[in-house]
Amino acid sequence: MTPPPHTPSITMVRGDITEQPVDAIVNAANSSLLGGGGVDGAIHRKGGPAILADCRTLRATQYGRGLPTGQAVATTAGRLPAHWVIHTVGPVYSPTEDRSALLAACHTNSLRVADTLDATTVAFPAISTGIYRWPVADAAAIAIAAVLSAPTRVQEVRFVLYDERAYETFARAWQEWQA
Ligand code: APR
Repeated sequence: MTPPPHTPSITMVRGDITEQPVDAIVNAANSSLLGGGGVDGAIHRKGGPAILADCRTLRATQYGRGLPTGQAVATTAGRLPAHWVIHTVGPVYSPTEDRSALLAACHTNSLRVADTLDATTVAFPAISTGIYRWPVADAAAIAIAAVLSAPTRVQEVRFVLYDERAYETFARAWQEWQA
């Protein structure tokens, strides 16, 4: 009997998302789904060709024009300790256009996909805060609010922050949220 939708526990971890022994890790992909730099590059490099093969199949079938920003789709995790990779496309930061709803959607749609997989532990990177230049503190607040806004059957959401600055920023945002 799977538990009813609820609010998942949130943990903040300093580390490499490719090493997380969780059911699903979320990839900050681009709409091509064919790999890139940053965490996308690390996931494909360490997960191996099976991930890209699944991505190519998605492009050849449901996502002929690429994965739209804010949406999420799952593939195998290949050689990674996780079972699945949930690829989502974050918005590029814009100082003039408010794209925060798209960044929130990356999180809620990834959890929705996780529910279809019966995944109970999901790791997120700091989506859009690297090459897409989103200010980390703002991204942290959006990510936390989004994860807590959407009932899900996921039990644990783990934010995995690769560098000290991102970790400190996300941990502080989470402390402020709980205060
Ligand atoms: N584990 C966890 N986090 C990581 C890892 C890793 N192994 N490698 C990088 N990161 C962090 C970065 O430090 C940053 O905080 O992931 C966060 C997101 O940065 P990017 O990977 O640059 O992603 P994003 O800003 O969303 O830009 C997406 O970059 O890699 C390309 O194909 C991708 O075009 C897309 C764009």
